[in-house]
Amino acid sequence: MLKNTLLTAIEAAAAVIRSFDDRSFAVSNKEGINNLVTEVDHASEKAIIDTIRAAFPAHDIISEEVGELLQDSEYRWIIDPIDGTVNFAHRIPICCISIGIEKAGQMVMGAVFNPFMNELYVAERGQGATLNDKPIRVSAKDKVINACLVTGFPYTYLDEPNGPLQTFERFIRRGIPVRRLGSAAIDLCWVAAGRFDGFYEHKLQAWDSAAGFLMVEEAGGRVTNLKGDTYSPYQPGIIASNGTIHDELLRWVKGEEGAEG
Ligand code: IPD
Ligand code: CA
Ligand code: CA
Repeated sequence: MLKNTLLTAIEAAAAVIRSFDDRSFAVSNKEGINNLVTEVDHASEKAIIDTIRAAFPAHDIISEEVGELLQDSEYRWIIDPIDGTVNFAHRIPICCISIGIEKAGQMVMGAVFNPFMNELYVAERGQGATLNDKPIRVSAKDKVINACLVTGFPYTYLDEPNGPLQTFERFIRRGIPVRRLGSAAIDLCWVAAGRFDGFYEHKLQAWDSAAGFLMVEEAGGRVTNLKGDTYSPYQPGIIASNGTIHDELLRWVKGEEGAEG
């Protein structure tokens, strides 16, 4: 029932997003420069919440555009109606719907769907992760110097020591490819699918990573915060990897390895 509703919500949101393929949509700006929201984000969110409410009226919901709809349930749906909104607004087909489900504070299920590439990622705690119903597995790469990484940057630049640009520069100066796709949920799914060997980002919100971090763990990878401690989507930093390179990647991101000299 939980999984059915999850997949129905994803499909409802995808239908909304696709209905704008040949239609223009209104775009407005949230806090910060180029922090966009479109009418499609709102319409996708409504389709998801209506689906959840019809099946589980008492469940808690946290969703990017409407915020917290809490009623003290042990179930909490964590929703990003479009992750990669800047891409979507420019019709760059790297964006997705992301929904994670927590039970008693533990992420138990997640789904991420890119309606433009037709890629549906689903993870269930203890049951593994799939891409379009086929099991997926993280990569086997064993050194950061040979890895292909991905990262993202917050809308408002994070001016702090060893911030996003310093970390990015460290990898780039050493010739390590670091892609920037513009959708944290897809970044995480692509680590789960073994396309990337690792992902890090300094400042995310719970809806960006809720489904994706479970995907990586269930595909055999490892996810921690930027200190290397147990990951929680309610704090900002994340490192996700195939597991094999995790400790080394952590040192690179902290600046303990990879500096010139
Ligand atoms: C953003 C994307 C991006 C990440 C940003 C997020 P949005 O989400 O996930 O990859 O770098 O930090 O805010 O605004 O497109 O839902
Ligand atoms: Ca997002
Ligand atoms: Ca979003």
